[in-house]
Amino acid sequence: MELIFCFFVFLLVFSINQSKSDAFTPTDNYLIDCGSNSNTKLGDRTFSSDTSSSSLSITAKESIFAYTTASNSGNLSDIYLTARVFTTEATYTFTIQDKGMHWVRLYFFPFSYQKYNLASANFSVATEGFGLLNNFSVRNGSTVSKEYLINLASNNLVLKFTPSNNSLAFINAIEVVSVPSNLMSNTAQSVPSLTSEEPSSHALETVYRLNMGGPEITSDNDTLWRHWQPDTEFLSLSNAAKSAITSSTILYTNQTTPEIAPRMVYATLQEMNDSGTVNPQFNVSWSFSVDPNYEYFIRMHFCDFVSQALYLLYFNVYINSDIAIQEFDISKETDSLAQPIYKDFVAKSSSGSNILSVRIGPSKFASYKNAVLNGLEIMKMSNSDMSLAGSFSPNDSKTEKKKSKVGPIVGSVAGAFAALGLLTVIYMVFKCRKSHTKSTSTTWLPLPLHGGNSETIGSKESKQSTGSHGSSASLGRHFTFAEIQEATKNFDETLILGVGGFGKVFKGVLEDGTIVAVKRGNPSSEQGIAEFRTEIEMLSKLRHRHLVSLIGFCEERCEMILVYEYMANGPLRSHLYGSDLPTLSWKQRLDICIGSARGLHYLHTGADQGIIHRDVKTTNILLDENLVAKVADFGLSKTGPTLDQTHVSTVVKGSFGYLDPEYFRRQQLTEKSDVYSFGVVLMEVLCARPAINPTLPRDQVNIAEWSMHWQKRGMLDQIIDPQLVGSINSNSLRKFGETAEKCLADQGIDRPSMGDVLWNLEYALQLQETARLSDPDENSTNRIDEIPVHVPYPEHLEESNISMHSRVSEHDSEGATTNAVFSQLMNPQGR
Ligand SMILES: *[C@@H]1O[C@H](CO)[C@@H](O)[C@H](O)[C@H]1NC(C)=O
Ligand SMILES: *[C@@H]1O[C@H](CO)[C@@H](O)[C@H](O)[C@H]1NC(C)=O
Repeated sequence: MELIFCFFVFLLVFSINQSKSDAFTPTDNYLIDCGSNSNTKLGDRTFSSDTSSSSLSITAKESIFAYTTASNSGNLSDIYLTARVFTTEATYTFTIQDKGMHWVRLYFFPFSYQKYNLASANFSVATEGFGLLNNFSVRNGSTVSKEYLINLASNNLVLKFTPSNNSLAFINAIEVVSVPSNLMSNTAQSVPSLTSEEPSSHALETVYRLNMGGPEITSDNDTLWRHWQPDTEFLSLSNAAKSAITSSTILYTNQTTPEIAPRMVYATLQEMNDSGTVNPQFNVSWSFSVDPNYEYFIRMHFCDFVSQALYLLYFNVYINSDIAIQEFDISKETDSLAQPIYKDFVAKSSSGSNILSVRIGPSKFASYKNAVLNGLEIMKMSNSDMSLAGSFSPNDSKTEKKKSKVGPIVGSVAGAFAALGLLTVIYMVFKCRKSHTKSTSTTWLPLPLHGGNSETIGSKESKQSTGSHGSSASLGRHFTFAEIQEATKNFDETLILGVGGFGKVFKGVLEDGTIVAVKRGNPSSEQGIAEFRTEIEMLSKLRHRHLVSLIGFCEERCEMILVYEYMANGPLRSHLYGSDLPTLSWKQRLDICIGSARGLHYLHTGADQGIIHRDVKTTNILLDENLVAKVADFGLSKTGPTLDQTHVSTVVKGSFGYLDPEYFRRQQLTEKSDVYSFGVVLMEVLCARPAINPTLPRDQVNIAEWSMHWQKRGMLDQIIDPQLVGSINSNSLRKFGETAEKCLADQGIDRPSMGDVLWNLEYALQLQETARLSDPDENSTNRIDEIPVHVPYPEHLEESNISMHSRVSEHDSEGATTNAVFSQLMNPQGR
């Protein structure tokens, strides 16, 4: 979270270079501070009193000049501090020189003045026959600004304010400003019907205006005083997109001028994130809440500055699930890269919902898989009653006739955002600062620190731990930075064991001679702090023979250092490929798979709540001097769903190639996501190749797909590690393949639990070890289905301290387990 917040702040502080020298000058430019008797600045524009202009007239039976002094705590623009209050219908009439499209912007801020409490005001606003607001009120303390685009056909614009029965109407400020004639196209394509619509014949209300991948752009920095928000909060899957920015010149054209959108919109974008695969096929998607009863005008801004050359990028654009532009080839319509272009559409929310979504995704046919979007504007279109606010129609209410039926009003989204936006930013800055200071103090750790000196507490205890999985497990030793420096020869680069996302891992020797692995986080990484904390919290709760033990940590001087037991044989991956370590036998590989499955099974079931590892891969399975496998790296771990939840919703994290496809689609995390990743590990162990190998032909890149292709044909033996050929018993291989296949099931619900996986791997081991005893007709098809979630062990197994299925298996004896399982297999009971 903090990371995202800081990212926002970062975006906000980098400067926006915006030349307004040749900016558009509007012919009609009414900037009115209602109820004021002097001029007021808003940014670089001056709003004048509504009494001073001769081309503006106000009619009202009664109109009150209201003002507040109390509410201005410094950051509220002065235009909000005065208002005109009406007790009966009132009009503002503006003389218009230039017919055509105009911005009408209305600003509201309720306060109390004499006997008038503006927060209780309830009224409607109409213009040019269009109902803009109906039954409208503003909550105390909030500012609301509304922006409309109105096509004016006459030389007058009349804005009519009508209080609801016995209520009030008020207005703090009004803008009526000409819009450049090229801003609104005459036609827009309706999706999905593909008919041509004429949005400019409607009144339009801005509901969303986003600068994709870029900072907020305030009205001061927009040629037409528009406000652009960052898009991140609307991204359905934030990891699917990454932002890009260019410093090169945006090549505006006669069609796409700086008035269409400012430079900062076209110079930033969101594109597809690196998925680490050669053939990424996913959409980047944004979702918006809208009123299902209205059509929306949607303008998408594109400017390709990320492609290496013209004609490389073409992609699909969807609105909801309908195609809006098929194989969109920006280059075909522009002469060069960095040349902006926009596309207009009309659409409603996805049927049966109030969500409108915009998606971009790579073309099946493109060899450069990418998709971009620079900006997005969504404007509500007035309906056939000429209304933007419910069933209200100003044409009916011209007489005093009061409509009894009043439709629901869709809240003042845009305005509320503006007000909320500032608060959010302040919150973010605050939050960010706070977490920075936190990381330098020693108080953030929500765990007992044993006084913060360097007494040894955890080191011995951890090894002799009885495996109690409660929170009583000790946190481990608190190292001083000096001790760590000494242990690692001041982080001698020659002692580096590995480098990961979190930082570097060094080999170290403690003063008592214990060899340890020292993981030093990068202190500037916000993500690091969170993961550091998670890892300590998780590991302090867990003790297991197949989980890497935490010996202690150091958090002095902003450092995030974790000290683990040293795993002499390093990551499993280096024993499979990419090194010249001796080949592991099939039995050794099965033992390693069984050990890590046991570690994961313990994670899922051993702790009070169950823990999901989230980053199971062959580099996170470490081997000790006896090749005993231990699961490591709990930085991304999450406690599992509580009883009343079925999953944990979260931002997708993990490693490409190992990511559960269902998790990626639905962002719902269950322990079955680890099972999927473990299935990838199993295939890696069998085939001795990386999960993703982009150098291979496309169909072979992803091990999960490639191996399932062979497994489904019963020909997995075709792709196994050549070093294993001839040494694997075919039943053992079949069992292993079936187990991996189940793990890799597309739906989590179809995958076995880690307990079942463990059971099946034990079985595969037995089939290997006792090949000659096994029944040649043994058919293990669908074995996993037959095994209930809780494997019913015969009583005598429990007695002989078999812990394969136990919650805490610190003292398990693998020899006993396998023999016992074997005897059970040979004498199947209750199956
Ligand atoms: C607006 O642009 C100016 C440069 O013209 C820049 O200094 C300022 O930070 C920008 N303000 C916002 C809020 O974007
Ligand atoms: C992208 O979204 C569209 C519309 O929902 C869908 O038809 C398409 O299959 C999606 N593409 C991918 C690769 O998921």
